Amino acid sequence: MRTPLCERLGIEFPIFAFTHCRDVVAAVSNAGGLGVLGAVGFSAEQLEIELKWIDEHVGDKPYGVDIVIPGKYEGKGMDDPAELEAKLRAMVPPEHRAFAKRLLAEHGVPELPEGTQTRELLGWTAATAGPQIEVMLKHPKVKLVANALGTPPAEIIREIQQSGRLVGALCGSVKHALAHKAAGVDFVIAQGGEGGGHTGDIGSIVLWPQVIDAVSPLPVLAAGGIGDGRQMAAALMLGAQGVWTGSIWLTVDEAEAAPAAKQSLLAATSHDTVRSRAWTGKPCRMLRNDWTEAWERPENPKPLGMPLQFMVTADAVSRTNRYAAKAQAVAFNPVGQVVGLMNEERSVRDVIRQLVEDYVDAVDRFEQLQPKDV
Ligand SMILES: Cc1cc2nc3c(=O)[nH]c(=O)nc-3n(C[C@H](O)[C@H](O)[C@H](O)COP(=O)(O)O)c2cc1C
Repeated sequence: MRTPLCERLGIEFPIFAFTHCRDVVAAVSNAGGLGVLGAVGFSAEQLEIELKWIDEHVGDKPYGVDIVIPGKYEGKGMDDPAELEAKLRAMVPPEHRAFAKRLLAEHGVPELPEGTQTRELLGWTAATAGPQIEVMLKHPKVKLVANALGTPPAEIIREIQQSGRLVGALCGSVKHALAHKAAGVDFVIAQGGEGGGHTGDIGSIVLWPQVIDAVSPLPVLAAGGIGDGRQMAAALMLGAQGVWTGSIWLTVDEAEAAPAAKQSLLAATSHDTVRSRAWTGKPCRMLRNDWTEAWERPENPKPLGMPLQFMVTADAVSRTNRYAAKAQAVAFNPVGQVVGLMNEERSVRDVIRQLVEDYVDAVDRFEQLQPKDV
């Protein structure tokens, strides 16, 4: 299962793990996969602290960083983060903020303690992702950079490649994949709509082969819905050079999350998710609850675009995280349909071991299907 992309990155297994949690990044890289830290929620200063910690916990193993520069967003073209934030804040209608506050009050979610700071503009603009890139380029063990939404700007692709790292981008359609290829990325991540992501609604089994054919010989990582080794075998058999996973790392022992949030995920079935714009402004998959339903009702405010909607919901994210046990009916629980396979809390090492064993069993079973005298 060691593909050419594994060789280039120096990893044992073609398992790529997207996570916002540094402990998971380190554990995946130490277990032979490649942990990728989602940087969107960190300021440049926080990111430096996280990467330094990972450097100290991965020995000589490589890891990756994921940034978010969408193709389209409000305020695109503005370079100064403070100016951008002030302009965006002025664009948020007061009735959206009032509606969000009312929903939390109706569900009995307490206010944050006085003086608690909540960041409303995350790293999802060129102005806020730029300083994150400067930070990651100072960490030699970061061997891979991925962009979540849209084709990374050409100068960023060049800068990352000139530093000796691989750069790629997520896509949900052949059109996106071809745009990434034309911009010169080193690999593409084809993410099916069942995954916990923002890229589109075409299912994985339909999307992966189309993208693989369209960008060949560029390596493709298959994402969206992968939770066991049989799916990994299918992805590699379709021509992918690895699997890019997200949801399955949300409930591992090492993942930092409130017990109530983990419990919601462990109890959920594959029927319990919805693609919604209610938290970030772009459609992403999450557990359906009173919050997602409220933002769908015609009489209520419509979700704003990215990054404005998160300026409305940042307070709710902090409050529902802090008071998770009381707040699950209105909490943000982003996850893909694979949540139906996530039924117990396990260690990262155990998840990787199981993925690899199930992959080997699947390949063996396939070989046994062949007539013996051929
Ligand atoms: C909680 C969560 C947050 C995510 N945030 C990002 C992100 O910031 N950037 C990104 O490129 N992808 C993000 N994704 C998508 C993952 O990178 C990955 O493509 C997706 O999880 C694959 O589908 P799966 O969840 O079915 O494994 C996120 C996924 C989840 C579950």
